[in-house]
Amino acid sequence: MIIAPSLLAANFGRLEKEALRAEQAGADYLHLDIMDGHFVPNISFGPEVVRVLRPVTKLFLEVHLMCSRPEILLAPFAQAGADRMTVHVELGEQVNALLWKIKSLGKKVGLAINPPTAIGVVQPFLEQIDLLLIMTVNPGFGGQPFIVETLPKIQQAQVWRRDKSLDYRIEVDGGINFATAAECARAGADTFVSGTGLFGQRSLKLAIKRMRKLVKSARPASRDSQLSTAYQL
Ligand code: DX5
Ligand code: ZN
Repeated sequence: MIIAPSLLAANFGRLEKEALRAEQAGADYLHLDIMDGHFVPNISFGPEVVRVLRPVTKLFLEVHLMCSRPEILLAPFAQAGADRMTVHVELGEQVNALLWKIKSLGKKVGLAINPPTAIGVVQPFLEQIDLLLIMTVNPGFGGQPFIVETLPKIQQAQVWRRDKSLDYRIEVDGGINFATAAECARAGADTFVSGTGLFGQRSLKLAIKRMRKLVKSARPASRDSQLSTAYQL
């Protein structure tokens, strides 16, 4: 189980300290939301922030590109020290080339899908990816409520992974708090991005510990036994 605090909910006036705080609090990844003001109606930050954070923390840095033209950002983020880059399946024809580009840069490959997009659209790419990011809110802003209708997509992603003997991670992002994280774990998610759900708590350390405990105990079974057990939501 991976817990990935989203820096979007941290204090932007002291990002280095916040990254370090996440590491010391027991996070596994740091989730970095890149918004271009076009693919989503908001702007966040660019490769320079990753470059500054890279020497500060040993945390795995995952970059979630909510951008219309990620092709111009992949090399800069790779050079800045990103460990994984995730692009959106809504970019259509470009997706295949983008996934190959990320791989050719020596980085882990992620593919994200928005709530209104049918899950079948990701199926052709499953063998190319290390992580499938199922958005559980419409991207653009932190602090939005979880969209419960996304749960069957998590279940489908888990069934495909089992049936095709693949090993991509299933990540959820948006409105993830203690309750919704457990719901997602029951459906098959293993990687949990949370912004306000974690940074909004008084103790980040206790919040991460509690979320980890909840998703572990909510998990239907171990990954191995899922492979042999028919899973029903
Ligand atoms: C939403 C971003 C999320 C965001 C989640 O567009 O992709 O990563 O930081 O924030 P919360 O957990 O507050 O919904
Ligand atoms: Zn994100």
